[in-house]
Amino acid sequence: MTTKRSPSPTRRSKAPARSRAAPAASSTGLEGVIPLGKTGKLHPRLGLGLWALGRWRPEDEARTKATLGHAIERGLRWFDTAEVYGAGRSERILGDVLYRAGTVASESLVVTKLSWEHLRAAQVRPALMGSLQRLGRSSVDLYLVHSPDPRVPIAETMVALEALWKEGKIGAIGVSNFSVEQLTEARSALQETDVVVNQVLYNMFERADGDEVLPYCRQEGIVVEAYTPLARGLLTGRYLSGSIPVGPAREIGLRDRLEEVQGLARKLHALARKAKVPMASLALHWLEQRGVAPLVGASTPEQLDSTLAAWAARPSDAVLAEADAIALGHGG
Ligand SMILES: NC(=O)c1ccc[n+]([C@@H]2O[C@H](COP(=O)([O-])OP(=O)(O)OC[C@H]3O[C@@H](n4cnc5c(N)ncnc54)[C@H](OP(=O)(O)O)[C@@H]3O)[C@@H](O)[C@H]2O)c1
Repeated sequence: MTTKRSPSPTRRSKAPARSRAAPAASSTGLEGVIPLGKTGKLHPRLGLGLWALGRWRPEDEARTKATLGHAIERGLRWFDTAEVYGAGRSERILGDVLYRAGTVASESLVVTKLSWEHLRAAQVRPALMGSLQRLGRSSVDLYLVHSPDPRVPIAETMVALEALWKEGKIGAIGVSNFSVEQLTEARSALQETDVVVNQVLYNMFERADGDEVLPYCRQEGIVVEAYTPLARGLLTGRYLSGSIPVGPAREIGLRDRLEEVQGLARKLHALARKAKVPMASLALHWLEQRGVAPLVGASTPEQLDSTLAAWAARPSDAVLAEADAIALGHGG
């Protein structure tokens, strides 16, 4: 995609190593097929989010880089981060790994987000420049407003973002956690460009936000990216019983209905066994069938491999309909 490296990155002196043999995304079923608004670009169908990777302890950094490197080798080309993830460490790791991956960087959709603490007009440029410096780039493909803040008018932020888009520092503008009303407000503040993405919480068990925005986004050609598509592991068959350990990657919003949801997850697990697909196939293709792009997390290369195996196994429409009914408490 369009992102260029910064001409004089200050923190890296060595030339990039040769790109490891990475398969073309088109050979892996991961090719971009969703138009990214009117930008003329395509949005990959499956992405890797870099929030939980590593959990920000120094000892986890090698594992984080290994997972990301593995994602690149496996053909993933959409990487999502944010200035708030690990207080900038996530952006740094992504920048470093992509720098070493050679041409993969220019083929990828690199996404970062403006913090909800930096939505005032005067804060937007310094926040973006900080992200670009950590990523080691002169521009980012897609820049999302991480979340609205009711104390800051949406138009104020969008006008500041459009100025940066005109300068070429942002390839495209998107938002996250926006309702239809907030999306409409954001779009009407833009003169020459449009919002191309809304990233929302969306999985079989937590569907309110996605369900609310999806019809509008479909109609308007806005890509819906689903975060937490695997319910932090619950929809992979993990945590089918017992408690879920507390941790930054596992703060699922389902704790208050955990027993009920675990019962539904056990039924989905049984359905997946009967259909001979991994359980995560139900979760991922339930989204894919709606035209939504899942943004998964993985904290090890093995987790990523199992997610890619699930992605490669598409259940039939009948199985997906049954899974949908089970997740709503109507089936099984
Ligand atoms: N815009 C926003 O406000 C927002 C909010 C949240 C997330 N996001 C983005 O969305 C991305 C994904 O979110 P998420 O991490 O919540 O998504 P997720 O895919 O639902 O959960 C990922 C977690 O599930 C577990 N997992 C994944 N594959 C597994 C497997 N095969 N077997 C067992 N467990 C597995 C891992 O947990 P463990 O690490 O515990 O093993 C992994 O960290 C984030 O990285 C971030 O980029 C955005």
